[in-house]
Amino acid sequence: MLATVKEILHMVTPGWAVAAFNVHNLDDARAVVEAAEELNSPVILMVSQSALEYAGLSFAARICRTAAEEVRIPVAVQLDHGRSVELALACMHHGFTAVMFDGSHLPLEENIAQTRQVVKAAARFGVSVEGELGVIGGKEDELAVADQESNLTDPQEAQRFVEATGIDVFAPAVGTAHGFYTRPPRINLERVRALRAQVKVPLALHGSSGLSTVVLKQLIAEGIAKVNIGTDLKAAYTASLRGFLTELPEEHEPRKVFAFAREQMKNLVRERLGLLGSVDKAR
Ligand code: G3H
Ligand code: ZN
Repeated sequence: MLATVKEILHMVTPGWAVAAFNVHNLDDARAVVEAAEELNSPVILMVSQSALEYAGLSFAARICRTAAEEVRIPVAVQLDHGRSVELALACMHHGFTAVMFDGSHLPLEENIAQTRQVVKAAARFGVSVEGELGVIGGKEDELAVADQESNLTDPQEAQRFVEATGIDVFAPAVGTAHGFYTRPPRINLERVRALRAQVKVPLALHGSSGLSTVVLKQLIAEGIAKVNIGTDLKAAYTASLRGFLTELPEEHEPRKVFAFAREQMKNLVRERLGLLGSVDKAR
């Protein structure tokens, strides 16, 4: 069932978080919703700007909306790390139920101004909006951010940003990084606590792949309500394809190869939903 991220986050209570998976095509989108349906868990399908370039906006929107409509659990379809107001608007026109406008690379006032524009337009579509402030480490979509430049989000600035923009979900920088970690992550739990106290909307965690179970659970205990999972699902996808074709190099039937990959991805999704505590939380 199609839902907005706001509607799904409304269901979240202390102690668990909703998973938001980056998807690219029919197979990973179906793997996510089928596993979530099996476990009676709400879930979010996200398509990044570069995934949209790969799949095509119309294809991506239709694949994700159909995947959502095929199941009885609430599923939101969100643009992830959209870098322009135009792209956010185009996603709304194509039926996305949520957009993330990522103006974190802009000066604060410009980030506020552009995010507000997206929020205003989204209100007309009934779409929810996620905004970002601060620099999340690692590779952020196509933009490589040097680890040393990563700076955490200031709680006072965050409060101002959230109030001035009217966003529904806030993505802060708390020490995580996109992609696999090249050195042990240093997650600032106190910063999460301070942000939680200062900011009135749900917090989204970016860069969850590679974090330990203990750290993820601590972050959820501190009030993270949405956990973005990208690299782990991509790795499960490509590793299963590699494994299958190495084992059976003569196989030429795409249905067999991709059905196998879908099952492997479902295992990863089931494991993440269990870890985040969203199993049996769909109403
Ligand atoms: O927006 C997407 C997520 O932040 C993905 O991060 O690839 O490290 O899991 P990840
Ligand atoms: Zn992210």
